[in-house]
Amino acid sequence: MQKNRLGMRVLLPADRIQARVAQLGQQIGADYAGLPLTAIGMLKGCFVFMADLVRQIEAPLHVDFIEVSSYGDDTISSGVVKIAKDFKHSIAGQHVLLVEDIIDTGLTLNTLIEILQARKPASVRIAALLVKSQKQQLRYPIDYRGFDIEDDFVVGYGMDFRGRYRNLDHVAVLEESQPELFPPVPGQQLEG
Ligand code: IMP
Repeated sequence: MQKNRLGMRVLLPADRIQARVAQLGQQIGADYAGLPLTAIGMLKGCFVFMADLVRQIEAPLHVDFIEVSSYGDDTISSGVVKIAKDFKHSIAGQHVLLVEDIIDTGLTLNTLIEILQARKPASVRIAALLVKSQKQQLRYPIDYRGFDIEDDFVVGYGMDFRGRYRNLDHVAVLEESQPELFPPVPGQQLEG
């Protein structure tokens, strides 16, 4: 089992992620060839995936970001979301690709897609690097999925625990048996 320099179990090394993101980008570029495309990243967790993914898409596209706040405890989504940062660009008549780092329950996306549909895009599709399927309640198909993973809490490649570990270039598992890796920040709300 590969460990990173912090002693975490490496689930997806950087080279495996890069290879898969390149495949997804090529597929997306081919599917949207000639169509007006807007890629919307869900902050903050998407920022690394988004940067790598859009550079693999050959079709011209707009890039924008949205940030939603989810209320729950540190690791469980409540599905009650509020838009903390919206984008100004109109998506009416545009094909929208929502870019998400990880889908767990899918409750965040269910709400966000309803909000975006009201803005009359031509279509909305989902690209997610990671999908945890055990608790899946997503009402929409995941059109572009990087990897299906177990129900572990993961960090790195943009994903955090209490704001930390986003800068790892790989995906690692945060295990309860390693309490020294859990930053003690009580009362902080889950970041996107
Ligand atoms: P969902 O609404 O349950 O699908 O939760 C989605 C959001 O929860 C993601 O965008 C992440 O911000 C966060 N999340 C869920 N699982 C993990 C994880 O294993 N690591 C880091 N963040 C996670």
